[in-house]
Amino acid sequence: MSAIVSIKDLHKSFGAVKVLNGVSLDVQKGQMVAIIGRSGSGKSTLLRCLNGLERVDSGDIKVCGHDIHQPDSLNLRELRKQVGIVFQSYNLFPHLTVERNITLALTTIKKLSSAEAKKIAHNVLTLVGLEPKKDAYPEQLSGGQQQRVAIARSLAMAPELMLFDEVTSALDPELTSEVLKVMEDLSTQGMTMVLVTHEMAFARKLADILVFMHQGKVWEVGPPDELFNNPQTAELAKFVSSDL
Ligand SMILES: Nc1ncnc2c1ncn2[C@@H]1O[C@H](COP(=O)(O)OP(=O)(O)OP(=O)(O)O)[C@@H](O)[C@H]1O
Ligand SMILES: [Mg+2]
Repeated sequence: MSAIVSIKDLHKSFGAVKVLNGVSLDVQKGQMVAIIGRSGSGKSTLLRCLNGLERVDSGDIKVCGHDIHQPDSLNLRELRKQVGIVFQSYNLFPHLTVERNITLALTTIKKLSSAEAKKIAHNVLTLVGLEPKKDAYPEQLSGGQQQRVAIARSLAMAPELMLFDEVTSALDPELTSEVLKVMEDLSTQGMTMVLVTHEMAFARKLADILVFMHQGKVWEVGPPDELFNNPQTAELAKFVSSDL
């Protein structure tokens, strides 16, 4: 196995607030790593550090061969081609069709021809089950469908790593399960992914590694069943029981 993500003793503060307080974590190729934890524990910040959306204060982070902690030599453009990120709010361009939302970065950033970009759009939309909606505008889609388009848009860049930050939190249960299904399929196909989620059943069933964050630290980490069945700390025990 080879590590796609390797984090060692990462620290990050916003002003006087210490948000990440010595995080270390490895993600191997093909793994699904799920991050859980209370609000404010630093989950989103950690994820954002992985694709250079936040500057880190200290520590080593390697992602897909890039040294994230060395901003001077960091090629952010290259990094972001290799690392896709999807958020709770899908941020599609409202004035562009589904297909154009996907082809835009391909023609502008990757400099592909329109025909090549459309072919990729066709493939990724098929993957998320929305090929028939390619000519629709975002407002004509349900929240779950829009989120699947956002995932497809990210996949179109052929990332090596996908980051998902509570991508189902704004969706009702039925739409949530559509989106989780897409994520499950991706994982089955070997995509490496790190996700922040409140979907405990999903994380427990599908994650290779579960990370419980607390107060800016990786409080507990291991196979999901172990963490759920046998929490080693009072904090995780409480978190797990409050979810039942
Ligand atoms: N840009 C910022 N400027 C100042 N403080 C920030 C910023 N981003 C995050 N924080 C603070 O850092 C802490 C951790 O935030 P983060 O968003 O990483 O938490 P989280 O675990 O993702 O929480 P949630 O479950 O609510 O999404 C919080 O106290 C938050 O207020
Ligand atoms: Mg968050």
